[in-house]
Amino acid sequence: MQHDKVLILDFGSQYTQLIARRVRELNIYSEIHPYHKVPDQLEDYKAIILSGSPMSVRSEKAFHIDLEQIRGKKPLLGVCYGAQYLAHFHGGEVAPSNIREYGRAHLEMIKDDEALFKNVSKGSQVWMSHSDTIKELPTGGVRLASTADVANAAYRIDGEDTYAIQFHPEVYHSTDGKQLLENFLVNIAQVNPDWTPNAFVEETVDALKEQIGNDKVVLGLSGGVDSSVAAMLLHKAIGENLYCIFVNNGLLRKNEFTQVLDQYEGMGLNVKGVDASARFMDALAGLDDPEAKRKAIGRVFIEVFDDEAHQVQDVTWLAQGTIYPDVIESVSATGGPSATIKSHHNVGGLPDFMKLKIVEPLKALFKDEVRRVGKSMGMASDLLGRHPFPGPGLAIRILGDITPEKVAILQEVDAIFIDNLRKWNLYDSVWQAGAILLPVNSVGVMGDERTYEKCVALRAVESTDGMTADWVNLPYEFLQATSNEIINKVKGVNRVVYDISSKPPATIEWE
Ligand code: XMP
Repeated sequence: MQHDKVLILDFGSQYTQLIARRVRELNIYSEIHPYHKVPDQLEDYKAIILSGSPMSVRSEKAFHIDLEQIRGKKPLLGVCYGAQYLAHFHGGEVAPSNIREYGRAHLEMIKDDEALFKNVSKGSQVWMSHSDTIKELPTGGVRLASTADVANAAYRIDGEDTYAIQFHPEVYHSTDGKQLLENFLVNIAQVNPDWTPNAFVEETVDALKEQIGNDKVVLGLSGGVDSSVAAMLLHKAIGENLYCIFVNNGLLRKNEFTQVLDQYEGMGLNVKGVDASARFMDALAGLDDPEAKRKAIGRVFIEVFDDEAHQVQDVTWLAQGTIYPDVIESVSATGGPSATIKSHHNVGGLPDFMKLKIVEPLKALFKDEVRRVGKSMGMASDLLGRHPFPGPGLAIRILGDITPEKVAILQEVDAIFIDNLRKWNLYDSVWQAGAILLPVNSVGVMGDERTYEKCVALRAVESTDGMTADWVNLPYEFLQATSNEIINKVKGVNRVVYDISSKPPATIEWE
């Protein structure tokens, strides 16, 4: 299948991937290439976007590109650094701005009938993030819009389909940003918006067939959305040559292992369920340091997975459900190491000694896009709508050492909490929820008896990506009913508290 393609040249902005995402939301296919590697086959692209950058065009170390090879040849949109670059090196001037320009601003269009601003409302909110400003437009520049602090917030070059904007249309806070991108891509550059989730599935399946041929692939299913959608794509491409392994580490939610295994079998996947609970419990015995627990779980997982993978003869590929946020959380946009808070995630987590080639069909997608792709393959909405659940499972929700008894208590508490969220129709409005077993006993009274039992915390958060989160204002009646049910039904628990901390400064998991 042939689709119109858009080229995004990346100058290292933290938002470059968001540009690609907005473009995909318009059902347009795009590719990100580094600014210094402009593809030779320019005729393959219908439009080009220059991203923002942490760099200043005035710096000695500015990232340089030979714009003459693309300018005037293809419709071009410069965003932030892209807009400044075009001005600074083509007859205009960029200077440090007197006021730092971050955050919201409002667009005042110079003319009513510019193609770039079709259906963009007057005074539309846009998001600024720059400390240089465009003082003089480049040769042939025509100013299109200003804001209160920025005279040249948008311009075009006379006689060319070259446009430039100082603000970031790709961030959500630029209210009409997507409309503006649509105006540029569909109306000005005449890109055909025909790249849908179905097209993604068809093309990815074709590409996987080509890449993998008759080889065998192993994939670790987790019960979560990402690994399940990756498995379905591979299943479509290579059928029985995909060997899925679903490991029960004994730290899953109540009944999850059998329920999810049934669901996978129902989807036609070639899946083997491996109950390794005892091995995990042995490895965890006596450990109470969070990092030590994580390490033990990681080590046993690799051992179990490796044992199982070795039973598949001649396997050469390992598939992973890595999605784009896993990639950005592990490596910064410019390729350097970013904060390692999330190094435990799926990227690079598997052992070298397996010597398998890696295939990651979801690597360019965000979570909600993964869900859309899953939906277009007919996957069940309860599987696609599941809350994220950490790989080490309930182990990071039991503070202190882990015993089978504690796991059983927490599974009961968690099941009541999650079932109630569903019953009260709250499940889908919460991003993630779970219960935490605290290492404290407290005094209570049941009947005429004094008790000295465990305390559990309930946590429900709203978030978009888990990087930041806020606690959810669950109705008091819900909390009351859930707390009552937990204390009445779960032996060993006499106290329930609700966590009202945001992230940061707290985290979602208690560990
Ligand atoms: P924190 O506790 O860092 O969690 O605020 C952020 C998100 O990451 C999930 N999480 C994990 N997911 N493997 C995973 O696949 C892990 O080791 C892991 N640790 C935390 C957590 O559930 C939340 O959604």
